[in-house]
Amino acid sequence: MTTPAELALSHTDLTPPELAHLQRLLGSWSVLADLSFSDLLLVVPTSAVAGEEPELIVMGQIRPNNRPTMLEQDLVGQTVLRGTWSLAAAALERGEVVNGEVRHPLIGESVPVENIPVRFGERVVAAMVRVYSRAVATPHSMYEKKYFAVFGRLVKMITEAEFPFAQEEVGTEETPRVGDGFVLVDGKGRIEFASPNAINAFHRMGVYSTPEGHKFTQLGVEASAVQWALATCHPVVEEVERRPDVIVLVQCIPLLEDHVANGAVILMRDVTDVRRLDRLLLSKDAAIREVHHRVKNNLQTISSLLSLQARRLSSDDGKAALYEAERRVRSIAVVHEILSRDPSDQVPFDDIVGSLVRMAEDSVVSSHTVEITVEGDLGEVTADTATPLAVALAEILQNAVEHAFAGADAGTPDGNAPDGGTPDGAGPDGATPGPDGGVGHVRVVLAHGSQGLGVTVSDDGKGLEPDFDIERTTSLGLSIVRDLVVSQLGGSITMGAATGGGTLVEIRLPPPPY
Ligand SMILES: Nc1ncnc2c1ncn2[C@@H]1O[C@H](COP(=O)(O)OP(=O)(O)OP(=O)(O)O)[C@@H](O)[C@H]1O
Ligand SMILES: [Mg+2]
Repeated sequence: MTTPAELALSHTDLTPPELAHLQRLLGSWSVLADLSFSDLLLVVPTSAVAGEEPELIVMGQIRPNNRPTMLEQDLVGQTVLRGTWSLAAAALERGEVVNGEVRHPLIGESVPVENIPVRFGERVVAAMVRVYSRAVATPHSMYEKKYFAVFGRLVKMITEAEFPFAQEEVGTEETPRVGDGFVLVDGKGRIEFASPNAINAFHRMGVYSTPEGHKFTQLGVEASAVQWALATCHPVVEEVERRPDVIVLVQCIPLLEDHVANGAVILMRDVTDVRRLDRLLLSKDAAIREVHHRVKNNLQTISSLLSLQARRLSSDDGKAALYEAERRVRSIAVVHEILSRDPSDQVPFDDIVGSLVRMAEDSVVSSHTVEITVEGDLGEVTADTATPLAVALAEILQNAVEHAFAGADAGTPDGNAPDGGTPDGAGPDGATPGPDGGVGHVRVVLAHGSQGLGVTVSDDGKGLEPDFDIERTTSLGLSIVRDLVVSQLGGSITMGAATGGGTLVEIRLPPPPY
């Protein structure tokens, strides 16, 4: 999507500071639309092309949220001939506000428009076109009169390059709008007017006296934003916490005349519920993280207990079985460890793979060397997929380091030192791991895409027995893998000979939702 700045950049010869000024205007002009009950368009002149009639391009559009819109269509990015929008062009040329009427293409009637030159430094860089219905042209109530008066002051600031402010905070979804609560103060910070919603906000803060004529502090509202904005001539946003359970967001926009603040607009929004939700979400995140952390710790304790017990056994079979169990528990702990760092439902599987590879490398007990490389990645997978997949991958890696190069030591009693004396002993008896004599290689290739997830693990070891069939194997490790991949994850697994000898294990998982 093109941003307004990119749009303007490619069509106009505005300088970067001028563009930044317009960007700030777009970030803060909702108050203008609401105060004037109007649709606003920001138009900039396009760069002159020799022989062509100059054009204007619409850089931004905003609707009031307290009146129906006059412009249902999205005009951003449209170009029009200057002749067609002659009033906007006149405002740009003359540098003064040009009022008039234009024929509305949809309504078929003429509607009033106000064309406001936007000045930056000495130059008029854009025109703000205000389109409004005749019905709002004359104020009906006290508050409408106030809104128009303040709008007029802001318009003057725009034409004198005083609005938007030099360091405007970019508006967020939370920034209060006029409808949330509007207060007007004079140059000393005394309240001149408060809209009905602002009065409600005062009530929520426990202020029941009439606000008019008082300063915020006199009402017992510790909003330093007002004084700050008046003193610094810059807008200030502040959260005012009154009583522990009420939080009001206060945005204070100073109204300047000849660089002096002679008043300010204060927009107030009760954000108590929003903040409460934020806090709840935060504590929920923290709780989930804590749970994963504890699960991980408990699993680590179990795995330590298993290895303690294994050491006490005298039977080798028993020892091996307990060590196996210990390793399986640890591979599940890895997933919880990662989840305890990032509690989102999505787990970066790369981190898990890294830990599993290290675990497998550490478990090489014989003297031969095994190198494990990882290529590609699986992106982010849900926690539900991550755990079974991590356990399956741990089993497969374990098999590779445990079986693929088994017997390697037999041919090289002194292990696989680089000069181990068996230059290339990789024969059918698999006496030496890997074709390059001494080092066994395991390659993990990960892929993800619209087809789903793919994990392949290949080694250059001795390969499987000729009659091996994954479908029929009853041994525990691969039974676990098969069950996890096929039953739990709905995927498929194949095991066969890798090209150039060794074993190739391939896991495929269907695309999301995993
Ligand atoms: N990469 C491999 N290279 C050679 N043989 C393998 C490989 N992977 C598995 N095998 C063979 O498949 C058999 C079954 O593996 P499986 O993981 O089910 O059991 P295991 O590793 O013997 O015992 P455990 O239950 O402790 O994992 C292994 O005993 C081994 O003979
Ligand atoms: Mg195994």
